[in-house]
Amino acid sequence: MVIAGGDQLRRFLRGGGDLLASVQVLRMSTNTHTRTASRAVVLALTRGAAWSVVALVWTGPAAAQTGGAFTPEQASAGRGVYELACARCHMADLGGAFEAPALAGPNFAREWATRPASDLIAYIQASMPPGQGRSLSAAAYASLAAYLRQVNGSAAVTVGGVSTVASPPTQTERPSADASATSTFREIDPFVPVSDATLHDPDPGDWLMYRRTYDGWGYSPLDQITRDNVHQLSLAWVWAMPDGTNEPTPLVRDGVLYLANPGNVIQALEADTGTLLWEYRRPLPEALRTGFNRNLAIFEEKLYLASIDAYLVALDARTGSVVWETWIADYQQGYTNSAGPLVVEGIVINGINECSRFQPDSCFITGHDARTGEELWRTLTIAEPGTPVGDTWGDLSLTLRGGGDSWITGSYDPELGLVYSQP
Ligand code: HEC
Repeated sequence: MVIAGGDQLRRFLRGGGDLLASVQVLRMSTNTHTRTASRAVVLALTRGAAWSVVALVWTGPAAAQTGGAFTPEQASAGRGVYELACARCHMADLGGAFEAPALAGPNFAREWATRPASDLIAYIQASMPPGQGRSLSAAAYASLAAYLRQVNGSAAVTVGGVSTVASPPTQTERPSADASATSTFREIDPFVPVSDATLHDPDPGDWLMYRRTYDGWGYSPLDQITRDNVHQLSLAWVWAMPDGTNEPTPLVRDGVLYLANPGNVIQALEADTGTLLWEYRRPLPEALRTGFNRNLAIFEEKLYLASIDAYLVALDARTGSVVWETWIADYQQGYTNSAGPLVVEGIVINGINECSRFQPDSCFITGHDARTGEELWRTLTIAEPGTPVGDTWGDLSLTLRGGGDSWITGSYDPELGLVYSQP
């Protein structure tokens, strides 16, 4: 089987991460080939003990390997190799993730801008991918270096200096407002709206926020089940949830259970029978469908979902239909939500996730008007340079101060008017 071309290749590789690890890029010497094609990727798939993929990469003339110069064709071939062998750690946009540093912008410039290209080639050839140095051809490594240098040559580099955090204009694009995202089987009627007073003092049978009450105790005052009779519990019903990471805390309001399934599938179930009342399936890009969400929030007649694609979505708690949705951050930059929001005095408070990457705008918590979704404020969870606490980071630019994800919902002290978050 022969596969040629980037799209076809990516489609093929998407099937399994293991295949990626078995990609070998072999150098075809330009001397033995009269072909002058600057870039051709041909994959031969053979079936041995296991499937293996062999990629043959022709790059430009070998002469440009160690000198400062590189051709656009070489950089373009490097991009193809990068997507195959490097992007899963350093990310497609070279932004870096976890321990793999950013390969564009200030991090790269600091290390490599003043060193000769041969150093960069030697480094990635000896050590990248980690533990698999020299697993690619010399030409492939040279093309990778060309690609990295091309990107960095044209990248605008901004270091530090971020001092204020203004909320971006509220964007209410509605990718999922499409009615087909919701199936309403039985409207919840009557539905008693959840007031602010109710959130402060919930009915014993309700569970209206992540840890039930603002103090975060996670304690139910119900006393029907005790230490003495717990062994008599028996199965009432079973509800199958979709595959994926499952960490939800369902909410309960007046006998209806609101469940956050993996992949942002939100369901309202009759708690005593397990009957599905409505279901909302958020249309998500394919790469995000394995994501999940730990909890929802409820206020008045709306249910709030902090979505995997970094939106805040308000659903009508009675029908599951979308009331509004507000853009919080760009999921293509790696931002996502895994915890859910907390509603305090009519403000939906939500912390964004996936900030182990290096970004100029750091990680943050936003507050939104519960009725409209409008963003009211945005606070960074990593101290900025030039602030008293920020100076404990020395002179490290904000871009390099990764971390600060709010991956657990916070709590609230109504007497002090303080929200506690856990970045
Ligand atoms: C399995 C994850 C992984 C893969 C795949 C990977 N890298 Fe890395 N890369 C890392 C890690 C982790 C580091 C940091 C190493 C260290 O600090 O010793 C790193 C460091 C680097 C650096 C140095 C960055 C700096 O700030 O100085 C470069 C350049 C680099 N990688 C290029 C590549 C290229 C090109 C590829 C593809 C051939 C690649 N890497 C594939 C994880 C990876």
